[in-house]
Amino acid sequence: MHLKPVIAANWKLNHTPTDARAFLQRFLPQCPRLNERTVVFFPSALTYATVAEGLRERPEIWLGVQNVHSEAQGAYTGENSVLMARDCGARVVLVGHSERRHVFGETDEQTTRKMALIAQARLTPMLCVGETLAEREAGNTAAVVERQLTAGLAELDDAQIATIMLAYEPVWAIGTGRTATPEDASEIHGVLRAALVSRVGEKVGAGIPILYGGSVNRGNASQLLAAADVDGLLVGGASLDADSWASIVRA
Ligand code: PGA
Repeated sequence: MHLKPVIAANWKLNHTPTDARAFLQRFLPQCPRLNERTVVFFPSALTYATVAEGLRERPEIWLGVQNVHSEAQGAYTGENSVLMARDCGARVVLVGHSERRHVFGETDEQTTRKMALIAQARLTPMLCVGETLAEREAGNTAAVVERQLTAGLAELDDAQIATIMLAYEPVWAIGTGRTATPEDASEIHGVLRAALVSRVGEKVGAGIPILYGGSVNRGNASQLLAAADVDGLLVGGASLDADSWASIVRA
């Protein structure tokens, strides 16, 4: 199946509201109509409202949040909830990004819980999976991403799974300038596709977008996007510059 590509910008802990305003002023005129692909911005929670305001005339561009807490509400100082994300008009929530897992110690159990909360709120969870360099060198890549996928889907029914997005992001490729080759990406996307199909069947499994992320830039975006089973890109560093991001969006 040929899916509409999803091109997503993960700004991480970058871009103040002032930066975001300047970014959009430069980016939006370069990409006047974006109907051939789904473009998503993941700004920080404090920059979110500014980006939403800047995109008011561009409803085809989606907004997402980088993280939500694993409880819907309560005494969790400093966290953001899925209900807040939905109320702000977010459509997508990143779950299990490698920095959440490896810098903040997020567990598979937490990703299970977050995926369930996000699906119940009828938002799209974008589940990130990926192996470390040590896991790759030990030949465990497929086992690691399958384990992370199984945890992410554990509390979802088939109808909810049909609404998710997946992102394969090898940890060794994130922010390192070292990209997976299109063949490496295709191989693991194939593993993930097969796991999805065996869980929910061919029809639903084939319709779930699987994005690649890890040192994507304007020079390698087209090649990665053309690889088999790569349905989109999740971009960190190269999404911070408006010109670089515009050329990736048009890749
Ligand atoms: P990068 O980050 O493009 O800077 O490697 C990707 C990501 O972490 O989503």
